[in-house]
Amino acid sequence: MDAWIPLGYLASAALFILGLKKLGHPRTAPRGNQYGALGMLVAVVTTLVDMQVGTEGGANWGLIVAGLVIGSIIGLVMALRARMTGMPELVALFNGFGGAASALVALSETWKYIEDPALALPTGLARQVIVVAAGLSALVGWATLTGSVLAMFKLMGGIELRGKWFPTPTWGPRWLNPVKLFMLLGVVVLILLSIGDPTNQAYLWTIIGLSCVLGVVLVLPIGGADMPVVVSLLNSLSGIAAAFTGFIFSNPVLIVAGSLVGASGLILTFIMCKAMNRTLRDVLFKEFGGTTREKVTRTKAGSDPEEVAMMLDGARKVIIVPGYGMAVSQCQHQVKELGDLLQERYDTEVKYAIHPVAGRMPGHMNVLLAEASVPYEQLIEMDEINPEFPECDVALIIGANDTCNPAAREDEGPLAGMPIIDADLARTVVIVKRSLSVGYAGVDNDLFYMDKTMMLFGDGKAMMTDLNNAVKDA
Ligand code: TAP
Repeated sequence: MDAWIPLGYLASAALFILGLKKLGHPRTAPRGNQYGALGMLVAVVTTLVDMQVGTEGGANWGLIVAGLVIGSIIGLVMALRARMTGMPELVALFNGFGGAASALVALSETWKYIEDPALALPTGLARQVIVVAAGLSALVGWATLTGSVLAMFKLMGGIELRGKWFPTPTWGPRWLNPVKLFMLLGVVVLILLSIGDPTNQAYLWTIIGLSCVLGVVLVLPIGGADMPVVVSLLNSLSGIAAAFTGFIFSNPVLIVAGSLVGASGLILTFIMCKAMNRTLRDVLFKEFGGTTREKVTRTKAGSDPEEVAMMLDGARKVIIVPGYGMAVSQCQHQVKELGDLLQERYDTEVKYAIHPVAGRMPGHMNVLLAEASVPYEQLIEMDEINPEFPECDVALIIGANDTCNPAAREDEGPLAGMPIIDADLARTVVIVKRSLSVGYAGVDNDLFYMDKTMMLFGDGKAMMTDLNNAVKDA
């Protein structure tokens, strides 16, 4: 039986790598998910066999089954209750749970030696590896937990306490940066000291306490449009914590899976930074964003679907720009129907412009439009579609705001420097949203007030249904 265990771990690691590769394209992504889930099943079964569950001296079946049942029920209830628009918050929370799980496993291993002084830690290099890995797992795991819970509240827009809504603060005076570095250094020193005295409880609780505070102070100053970077960084950290835990037990599949999550999360973080035109250092140590939301004082008369349908009649090229409002109103099917109508009736060229941080999670727009069966060839990334706007007759913006806000071209403000979809360069702009209110970053949008812009005020789904009917009747 022992010979099968490394093979089981190898198979699950291979399935994870294959799964990740398939996740690289929307068409193969569902298969990638299945490979990943199968890899996890193989890893769990192999670990249970490795632990010799049920045999004398092996792990306790009762505890394991109880953990599986309780965890599965919590996961099922959360998945059933999750709304599509609540996915980013759920992802943030799951990142935190991942970090906490690794940190708790590391804590239980350290606690074993504190509780039973007769147990002897290995000596030499093996001891250094175990103590340093447990310390790093605690640092990254607890910081990921507190940082992720704060990120979740930031994505929700605030915290509700006894029926009152409190906006999550964005607070980060400059003097906090050296404090962050000092705390990080302090934890590293304590981990090194633990090698000589691994059962010292003062070291242990100080490491945990400092790590929890570090997670909060790292995420606290980040706000506005920079949240995607934080969420993907926390995702990466949850994997890194798991990899450290793998070193404590010399568990190869935990090291491989943790490193894969850590590396892919880090790649995504850098993609997000590039999309926001920021460096990671700037996001973590400068004060971007902010929770101050600009007050909208200007007005603009709304248009009606019939007027827009008449204008679309003569358009040769239409670029659809989806944003968070499309996700909220779930109008992707009506959007696809409009694209099809325009192509069939007027032979219009229809494309979809995808901003990398449109919506509230990476790939949000791709997922929704794929669900509505929009062909992948029509989904064009921002850098590729932007040169096409000057020759585009209509830019049809559905629930997008920050991602096409010209304020991003200015030097100051929460959006400053973020590349945007150049919808304002199209001959005519049509915007579907409920009001003139600001987007996630809280910045008023000049695009709404341009002479060439027609505002269609209303819920995305209702307005797109009316627009489709108007095009059919035109
Ligand atoms: P936003 O700037 O957030 O604007 C969305 C707009 O949708 C709002 O102004 C809102 O206006 C409208 N809306 C809401 N519900 C609607 C409904 N039912 N029907 C029609 N419109 C509706 O969207 P965006 O352009 O997609 O930008 C995304 C922002 O989120 C960026 O700042 C980005 O940095 C941030 N963010 C992104 C991520 C990721 S990973 N993608 C994660 C966290 C944060 P009304 O209220 O007037 O309708």
